[in-house]
Amino acid sequence: MSNSSNIVILTGAGISAESGVKTFRDNGGLWEEHRIEDVATPEAFMHDPDLVQNFYNIRRAQMETVKPNAAHSALAKLEAEHSGTVTIITQNVDDLHERAGSQIVIHMHGELAKVRCRICNKVHRWHGDCDQSTACPDCGASPSLRPHIVWFGEMPFYMPEIGKILRQADIFVSIGTSGNVYPAAGFVAEVAAIGRAKTIELNLEPSQGSVYFDETRHGPAGKTVPQFVGELLSQGMT
Ligand code: OAD
Repeated sequence: MSNSSNIVILTGAGISAESGVKTFRDNGGLWEEHRIEDVATPEAFMHDPDLVQNFYNIRRAQMETVKPNAAHSALAKLEAEHSGTVTIITQNVDDLHERAGSQIVIHMHGELAKVRCRICNKVHRWHGDCDQSTACPDCGASPSLRPHIVWFGEMPFYMPEIGKILRQADIFVSIGTSGNVYPAAGFVAEVAAIGRAKTIELNLEPSQGSVYFDETRHGPAGKTVPQFVGELLSQGMT
């Protein structure tokens, strides 16, 4: 690794698992308890907004009870100590990367800590519950607020910026994602086709996209990520 390399890190639910946040597709994961069609689509919100708001209210409240783990902290250390760029593209809607100290974090699937007005489109930082009686703090419309979350059938955020970042990557690391949900699941193939970056997967088990990676390491993120970051920093900084 050179001192000026662009390190791009894609994270998924697995990086937050050891903090106590449920993943989606593991045993006991969120999509075992809830049907995606009931809570994570625009149609679900039209059909039963209270149910959908409540699903995200519970998750927002839970997020406030958990803490970043060793994997989040290691990535923040990497950003602080690497003289090139470290960009985290996360599918996670929690704020554990930021709370660990990472500065450059792109939330492509949205954020639990934000809601958005469907009338004026303004995005608001949010603590606590949001429901159909809550008025938009900006335009006053009610009901108007929805979770600032990308639902199935909606376009992920920041795709043009992400495209540029992937094209400039020297190292692409995927952590804790099953590789089931596109477009994120396709990033490794995109990076591999460009042929510039080394690609590494750190996951509990092989993901759907494992074959595309130059290197795969399996184990809990709380162990593999600090070890990997230690290796990167010792290669690049000495
Ligand atoms: P998944 O639940 O699909 O996958 C989590 C991955 O993390 C699995 O491959 C696990 O093996 C791995 N994992 C579990 N515990 C781990 C640990 N301690 N250390 C390392 N890896 C571990 O979650 P995502 O891939 O993030 O989207 O899911 C992608 C998207 O699907 C989510 O952003 C969400 C979901 O539906 C939306 O809601 C739009």
